[in-house]
Amino acid sequence: MLNIAVLVSGGGTNLQALLDAESRGGIPGGRIACVISSKPEAYALERAKRAGVATEVLVRKGFATPEEYDAALFSLLDKYDTGLVVMAGFMTIISDRVVQRYPNRIINIHPSLLPSFGGGGFYGLRVHEAALARGVKITGATVHFVNEVCDGGPIILQKAVEVLPEDTPETLQRRVMEQAEWSLLPQAVALFCQGRLRVEGSRVIIRESEEGR
Ligand code: GRF
Repeated sequence: MLNIAVLVSGGGTNLQALLDAESRGGIPGGRIACVISSKPEAYALERAKRAGVATEVLVRKGFATPEEYDAALFSLLDKYDTGLVVMAGFMTIISDRVVQRYPNRIINIHPSLLPSFGGGGFYGLRVHEAALARGVKITGATVHFVNEVCDGGPIILQKAVEVLPEDTPETLQRRVMEQAEWSLLPQAVALFCQGRLRVEGSRVIIRESEEGR
């Protein structure tokens, strides 16, 4: 069984989708071992506690240097014998050191069809504001492996969502979550836990059947 650490900062609806998937047997081979929040007040922590999952809080500002923060993160990930890290609305940028310790073992969800509206500055509602400002008719969500390039890692799954004329950033955010994020993230995590993802350069190959991770 692969231990999953979910990193969160906010409301935790994507975490909830993962918890729900796990409880209905939708993540064979994996279990959510801990939830680590960058904010002590994140509602995601309540969701984890309700599901009986261990919680930790790790605030970047509480550490004098990036090295000390990384060391604390590593010791938490080690404590739960973490085999997969899932960033589900995690608002702290992780360092190259973290990426290199978990190569193709960190998954992120981003609320657009990357490479559109990705990279530095594109987070939260800003992604949807930018999509509306550009006038795109289709947006969506992307689940990808995390590498050293912000939002630039190999893409695992994407799903398109229609933009409606009357959309506000908030209504669009909600539709992208409902129609894409909440199904895509558990699906990608399940594929990983079943050993069905293979990275070839910047492409992810999804195998038909289970093989070694
Ligand atoms: C989601 O839109 C996710 O794509 C983005 O941050 C948001 C987190 O929402 N990275 P939640 O905390 O999962 O509700």
